Amino acid sequence: MRVCVIPGDGIGPEVLAAAIQVLRVVAPDVEVNEADAGWATFQRVGVALPPETLGAAREADAVLFGAVASPSHSVPGYRSPIVALRRELDLYANIRPTSNAQQRTPDGPVVDLVVVRENTEGMYIGRERLEDDGDTAIAERQITRRASTRIVRAAYDLARSRAAAGRANPTVTIVHKANVLRISDGLFRTVALEVAAGYPDIRTDELLVDVAAMRLAQNPERFDVVVSTNLFGDILSDVACIHGGGLGLAASANLGEGRALFEPVHGAAPDIVGKGIANPLAAIECVAMLLEWRHRVDAAQRVRAAATAVIAHGPRTPDLGGDATTAAVTQAVIDRLG
Ligand code: NAI
Ligand code: MG
Repeated sequence: MRVCVIPGDGIGPEVLAAAIQVLRVVAPDVEVNEADAGWATFQRVGVALPPETLGAAREADAVLFGAVASPSHSVPGYRSPIVALRRELDLYANIRPTSNAQQRTPDGPVVDLVVVRENTEGMYIGRERLEDDGDTAIAERQITRRASTRIVRAAYDLARSRAAAGRANPTVTIVHKANVLRISDGLFRTVALEVAAGYPDIRTDELLVDVAAMRLAQNPERFDVVVSTNLFGDILSDVACIHGGGLGLAASANLGEGRALFEPVHGAAPDIVGKGIANPLAAIECVAMLLEWRHRVDAAQRVRAAATAVIAHGPRTPDLGGDATTAAVTQAVIDRLG
């Protein structure tokens, strides 16, 4: 297996170095190739996603991505490389699981949900412009039948496989704002309900995005699979990940036909970069997801068991209330791999 590793900016390289250390122990045969992308790359060579990186990502069996720092203002020629990679590789399904298995008190509610976010269109198509001498900004939002169909199918297929693995009351919650975005989310909703009709074994729920955010914060145990458009899915998954211990533990998969890119949900974390205290466990969970996706279930299980033990017994980085370093947590995971 060949894995293309794109560390990126900020804490991306710190957490991916940890993830690769773990990968090398559980899957020593894996070939790892590093490629550049991000803000530092843009400043050095003038593009955020060099063609060689895109080529390496295309040729690899899977991609591990760290994080990139994208400026919050417009920079001519700069586009977020992760958004571009998802589109170029047609990684249409962003799978963001949250479980509170490691935080739960024995009698507390069980949170075990997955946000399935559409990854190729919506508000992220980059069609923004200024009008009115710069006093009016317009953003276009694209929703297609094709992209909506395949993301909703991915959600229902996931709900089915979770049901097969023992999950009771399999449910897909379709999230939109069709009461306001009548045409674009209207199409998403119509297509979603059409797809839902083909899965009579799965319960279908429907929520407006604002209510969905509140319920995800308040009653996360009520959710199984949540499916939404690009921007809503991004925001809802950050809300959901609180219940799983926060951004330091949240991992995600970007899946297309026969292709996959795994990345922590967090970004470049400029406030802690270089301090050696970034939590590597989200990136390490990405390794488990990658191995599982390649059907190396035993290796994935080893990684998860080791990470779970470290979360339970420490050492922990400051985001989880401890004072350990990235290196100490990584070493503890490796020690527990057995
Ligand atoms: P962020 O996820 O980088 O950080 C949010 C907060 O969580 C910060 O206080 C940070 O220190 C903390 N945090 C994040 N990951 C952590 C970890 N592994 N261990 C411990 N603490 C952690 O989000 P923010 O601050 O909104 O964005 C910073 C930069 O990252 C921006 O330039 C943004 O564009 C970029 N970004 C990139 C993403 C990506 O590459 N996929 C996703 C989100 C943001
Ligand atoms: Mg996000």
